[in-house]
Amino acid sequence: MIGEREHWTTRVGFILAAAGSAVGLGNIWRFPYVTGVNGGAAFIVIYLIAIIIIGYPMMVTEMTLGKKTQKNPVGAFKAMAPNTPWWLVGALGVFTGFVILSYYSVVAGWSLAYIFRAIAGFAPGMDFAELFYTTIGVDIGEGPNIITPIIWHLVFMALTVGIIAGGVVRGIQRWVKILMPVLLILLLILVVRAVTLPGSGAGLAFYLSPDFSAVTGQTFLDAIAQSFFTLSLGMGAIITYGSYLGKDSTIGDNGGWVVGLDTGIAIIAGFAIFPAVFALGLEPGAGPGLTFITLPAVFAELPAGSFFGFLFFLLLSIAALTSAISLLEVVVAWLVDEKNWTRAKASVLMGLVIFLVGIPTSLGYNVFGDFSFLGMDVLDTYDWFANALFLPIGGLLTAIFVGYVWQAKRAQEFANDPPGKIPIGDWYGVLIRYVVPAAIIIVLIFGLIDTFAG
Ligand code: TRP
Repeated sequence: MIGEREHWTTRVGFILAAAGSAVGLGNIWRFPYVTGVNGGAAFIVIYLIAIIIIGYPMMVTEMTLGKKTQKNPVGAFKAMAPNTPWWLVGALGVFTGFVILSYYSVVAGWSLAYIFRAIAGFAPGMDFAELFYTTIGVDIGEGPNIITPIIWHLVFMALTVGIIAGGVVRGIQRWVKILMPVLLILLLILVVRAVTLPGSGAGLAFYLSPDFSAVTGQTFLDAIAQSFFTLSLGMGAIITYGSYLGKDSTIGDNGGWVVGLDTGIAIIAGFAIFPAVFALGLEPGAGPGLTFITLPAVFAELPAGSFFGFLFFLLLSIAALTSAISLLEVVVAWLVDEKNWTRAKASVLMGLVIFLVGIPTSLGYNVFGDFSFLGMDVLDTYDWFANALFLPIGGLLTAIFVGYVWQAKRAQEFANDPPGKIPIGDWYGVLIRYVVPAAIIIVLIFGLIDTFAG
């Protein structure tokens, strides 16, 4: 679009868009699981501290950079520090958005496929591991199913492109105002179902009883990493959404809403998952196995279980879609602002390229089944580069840039204009200059040690 930059037309529109970016696969399965293995309520306390001293100040920082410059991440750094290499931090963000979306869409495609698996019916006695393998394309004897997962990946990318091509107000804002309330309602229905199952108490106990003996150094690392990634920080998604904020928006309050919604939804998701898993005497496994193998087995045992399974995978797909649009928006905003592309051309062409780049991650379960990078398959390799390297490096450099180059004092002043109910005090400078960089460096180093020595 040539001319005026679009702006969110309501405050709720921005908050729901940013919360939609934050609430994703990370909230629905990763947070509950990480909490479970790290001592339940003990972890939640540490996590909340990490959210407050690392997540919130970074959220405020990215929103401020976007609102101040009214630009995509590359343009934002160029505007703040012209003729310096700092724009490369923005470029890393755009590249990271590109990479994350390419495989996020493959996993989201599995979730879409499972909406229809649920409609077809989850029945007791079904082999749910086999169902999952056929969905992702693993050869279970009848030859690998290469095409189906790629088609679901294509369908998901098409949905993402469709929303982003519509623009900020008529695309993103219109859809998050529909999808986020639906997401919340679906989640609450599933929580009520789970906690009213006979035997759900064991799951609540597993989730909530603070087990301090499970707290180790790793617990703190997990809490910091999760607080950072669940809020979509470190790659300019929040800079980009912040760039559509008008002058009268209040950064401290908006940041508080987004962080609060993301944290609340993560904690609530645990109440939907653990009571149900334990009520049926199953073990809470890790990662995709919990979501795509254990949970369908749970639904198979419930009365009207296929219906609840349908609701769950709809929820998961919506959560993924509202995150995916923010990833594509970073790439599109860069091409529209910096290269004068039309929004329609940028959305469709980049959607197509990202779809193609994602295909190898899908083929990691058949054609590229022998691929291994430090023992990881293709999808885990993409994910490792994004999460262990690009996001922490992007976040670290952003914090250093705002803390020392722009100067925390000036960012603080800008964030307080106009003042809201949550003032950004002098604590902001301390956190963004010292605490946040130190925490990210620790996570980055221990993450690398863990990968290469573990
Ligand atoms: N926050 C998303 C989740 O919890 C994942 C994510 C990390 C993300 N960084 C992002 C999403 C950047 C959009 C943009 O699943």
